[in-house]
Amino acid sequence: MSPRPEGRYEFVVVANRLPVDRVEEPDGRSDWRQSPGGLVTALQPVMQQADGAWIGWTGAADEDLEPFDHSHMRLVPVRLSGDEVEKFYEGFSNGTLWPLYHDVIVPPTYHREWWDSYVTVNRRFAQAAAEQAAEGATVWVQDYQLQLVPAELRRLRPDLRIGFFNHIPFPPYEIFAQLPWRRQVIEGLLGADLLGFQRGQDASNFLRACRRAVGLTRRGHTIVVRDPQGRSRRVHARAFPISIDARALDRLARSEETRERVKALRSELGDPRLVVLGVDRLDYTKGIQHRLKAYGELLEDGRVDPSEVVLVQVATPSRERVEQYRLLRDEIELTVGRLNGDHSTIGLPAVHYLHHSYPREEMVALYQLADVLLVTSLRDGMNLVAKEYVASRYDERGVLVLSEFTGAADELTNALLVNPHDIQGVKDTIVRALQMPEREQARRMRTMRKRIIEYDVARWAREFLHALRHPEDE
Ligand code: ADP
Ligand code: G6P
Repeated sequence: MSPRPEGRYEFVVVANRLPVDRVEEPDGRSDWRQSPGGLVTALQPVMQQADGAWIGWTGAADEDLEPFDHSHMRLVPVRLSGDEVEKFYEGFSNGTLWPLYHDVIVPPTYHREWWDSYVTVNRRFAQAAAEQAAEGATVWVQDYQLQLVPAELRRLRPDLRIGFFNHIPFPPYEIFAQLPWRRQVIEGLLGADLLGFQRGQDASNFLRACRRAVGLTRRGHTIVVRDPQGRSRRVHARAFPISIDARALDRLARSEETRERVKALRSELGDPRLVVLGVDRLDYTKGIQHRLKAYGELLEDGRVDPSEVVLVQVATPSRERVEQYRLLRDEIELTVGRLNGDHSTIGLPAVHYLHHSYPREEMVALYQLADVLLVTSLRDGMNLVAKEYVASRYDERGVLVLSEFTGAADELTNALLVNPHDIQGVKDTIVRALQMPEREQARRMRTMRKRIIEYDVARWAREFLHALRHPEDE
């Protein structure tokens, strides 16, 4: 791709993170690695097909970098100082908004200096987008870290078409109302022409917050706002459930290399009869402790025999400088240690715990290996891991145990749905999954595969961008 002068992109994505992270190698050199999380997984294939620019942070503090090309994408870095990483990213984004938007699973913290930093950094992202976008371009702002960007960008560049997509839940007003800056956040979001949410419920929660926080009432999924110049403008808010590049995963799963890797992994695990898998960022929203409690009790009760069944838990390192995340890691590692102390034999751990990031190929081999995938999130915008598992199971084998509190549960209704707080229910469902006849596995998997192959990430992006560019169809 040939670099273009600033201000020439017809399509611009703005996200807190770039799709790649700066990592320091042991030999002192630095390299790029795919950034963690579902936002990047979903948007990367979209941007690789699009002719546009992706504006975001590199994941390192105080880094000044020129725009560069990577994996067929044009990337435009935004600088964050160490203080901003602490207050804007770890603080307001992940210590205030993240828990507030996830059912206050842990208490959110409200600090005025964190908010000030959020305002400053959101302005910087808006400025960067204003500089890169061509006249009349489409700018698509992503996620809770950048909720003030739409209004700020509209102020700087009223000619642009501005979309916003919230990858995480939008909370009920009774919870959202805690936020001391709730009015400013709603006004920031209302700078967009179109706001996308994962589920219909999230869109309704947002529309209700508009009425309660700023007194604007909806008509259907539309709100009419008045610009400072007195002109009225229509803002639409509705659900666009995000997805994955299902065909690419299906292809990867069928490859000879993956099949070889699955065999090797199985033998490395000691050729167990059955494999149960969990894959999550190490985050308190994912319900990893609930899952370990249920699994531990099954081992204790003798309903799962560790000489026949192994649990593989991949827990990706995440936000490790935020206290809640450090505490969670300690808690999980203590539990895994106890389970293994009680139930492992030499050379045969009951639980394999892996605190690493893996290449895509390895993830797909793990999905292929897993007879059961456990997703027990307490609250999750979508949960792409569940969709990736289904996409990888071209053989129509395997059972998905899926929390009701994920966006994915709205679509993957043929999974075994569980309430992760109901430990007895989770235990019984795991046993049911381990015993499910192959025909039933195939029947369920087939229906779920049809859904995610049809509604893949390309379609998600197409539908959102169509709605953004053709508001008359809304
Ligand atoms: P979240 O966005 O909250 O992290 P999702 O389930 O929606 O949750 O997305 C997680 C993404 O991160 C998936 O694409 C998954 O494959 C990827 N992922 C999770 N753990 C790892 C890991 N250890 N190594 C590589 N990719 C991972
Ligand atoms: C979720 C969020 C993303 C975020 C990702 C990883 O998917 O919706 O916005 O990028 O988690 O979290 P991190 O804090 O490492 O960017």
